[in-house]
Order: sequence, then structure tokens, then C-alpha cells
Amino acid sequence: EANSMQFDRVNYETHGTTALITFNEPDKLNALSTGIRSGFCKALDQARHDDDIRVIIVTGAGDKSFCAGADISGFEFTPSYAKNFIDEVLDILALAEQINKPVIAAVNGYAFGGGFELSIACDFIIASEQAKFAVPEIQLGLLPGFAIARLNKLIGRQQAKYLSMTGTKLSAEEAKDLGLILKVVPHEQLLTQAFALADELASKPQMAIRYAKSIYNRELGGDELTYAKDVMPFLFLDDDTKEGVTAFREKRKPIFK
Ligand code: COA
Repeated sequence: EANSMQFDRVNYETHGTTALITFNEPDKLNALSTGIRSGFCKALDQARHDDDIRVIIVTGAGDKSFCAGADISGFEFTPSYAKNFIDEVLDILALAEQINKPVIAAVNGYAFGGGFELSIACDFIIASEQAKFAVPEIQLGLLPGFAIARLNKLIGRQQAKYLSMTGTKLSAEEAKDLGLILKVVPHEQLLTQAFALADELASKPQMAIRYAKSIYNRELGGDELTYAKDVMPFLFLDDDTKEGVTAFREKRKPIFK
């Protein structure tokens, strides 16, 4: 029996032992607005504290986008804004790693920037054949710090550098070929398949599942994220960043110096 709640711009439903978390600002491609960020934190907290919940699925409302990344409309170019923003966002991106229950990203469309990073923080990614993956931050003069910290081990240094330094978009099949995601499914089967995986995980002994996650987490280290939090704010003070962000807002191509 389904139970549903709303946390800011995020929907939360429980279906048996699975919690379904849906980013719900499809007009803005589910970018990480204040309401999505706070709602995601609250929804994960709810799932964490509900003993009946064994697995969490994260997805995006609408057919177009999982999450288009950080909310570019709020960017300011001051050192204090930049530091606070980077600290907050990197913590949010890492939340799915830190919760001790498995998290499945059901990627229904664009997983760009922070949306891409949020998906790779999940334990499993199942993608619709319409999904697209990219870390396009370079085009704003910025960097995907969380992805840089994680992609080496996921897909190797060459591919990681290529994606983060060029912002190249990947189809779901290309992401699968790189080993970035578990599987690609027909768009209309996305949630069914995510729930099937959730049920499979929920049927296993939960102590062993949680220990598996925490043993895998040991290889994550921690230094890279601390370093990213310290250095990335400086990028906001670069003229090319101001130009990249302004160009996105004005819907034109940036002219970098
Ligand atoms: N932050 C804030 N708003 C965003 C956004 C973001 N990251 N991504 C998309 N939006 C908004 C657009 O501004 C637009 O708003 P509007 O309707 O008020 O003009 C709306 O969502 C639809 O996006 P649009 O760009 O028109 O859709 P599209 O299909 O042409 O392109 C993308 C889709 C994902 C390719 C494009 O939106 C994009 O490149 N987004 C930015 C991704 C990014 O750089 N993320 C990292 C940020 S650090």
C-alpha cells in the first residue's frame, strides 16, 4: 500500500519496503533549487529513520530530466557565496553514499552536472533509454568536483578527464558501455525495473547489505571532497565563469577570454 508525503519540491512515497523520492520541479528540469535541496535532505532523513524502509529509489518528475544540476539562476560571484554554495552542494551530493541503505537512481532524462553527480553517489543507476549523462560545468568555467573525486575509480582516469574537461554528453548506452550504470531499460519500464531491483535487495539479509555498502564506502576516502570544497570556490571569481553563467542565463554561447 502506497503512502505519500511532500517535502518542499520533492515527493516521497513508500511502497512496501521501498521509498520513492521524486524531484518535482520539471519546468526547471529538476535543477537543485533550494526546494529540491531541502526536500531531498528531508526525504532521505525520513527514509533513514523508517525501519520498514530497506531501499530508496531517486528519480525526477516528468519525461525530460532527472536533474539538470546546480541551480544556475542563484549563482553569485562573491567568495562567501561560492564557499557556502560549494560546501552545501557537495554535502548534498554525497548524501546517498552516506545513508546506510541502498539507493537506486532511476534516471529518466538529463542527469547533468550535480544531477549526474547525485546519480553516481547512488549505489546503482538504472537509466531510461532516453537518459543523457554529462558534467557540463566546464562550459560555465566551473568544475564537477564530486564527479572528479569519484569518476577515476568508476570509469578510469582517461574517460573521467575527458568527460570533466569537455562536458561531452553521453547517451544511456554510452554510459552503460563505460561501466557508469547498471542497465538501460525502455523508458516506460524505468520505475518497474527500479522497483524490481529494490525488491531483490530488500529480500536479502539487511545486515549483510548494509555492511556491503559500508565496506565499499571505505575506498571513497574523503580527502578529495575536502580539497574540492577548498579550491572550487575560487572558480567563481574568474571572469570566464561570470561569462559562462551569464551566457547560460541569456541563452547564448559564451565567449571565453
Ligand atoms: N539551473 C537553473 N535553471 C536551469 C538549469 C539549471 N542547472 N537547467 C535548466 N534550467 C532551466 C532553464 O533555464 C529553463 O528555464 P526557463 O524555461 O525559465 O527558460 C528550463 O530549465 C528548461 O531548460 P532549457 O535549457 O530551456 O532546456 P533544453 O532542453 O534546451 O536544455 C539542458 C536542457 C539540460 C541541456 C540545459 O538546460 C542545460 O545545459 N542546463 C544546465 C546544465 C548545467 O550546466 N548544470 C551544471 C550546473 S553547475
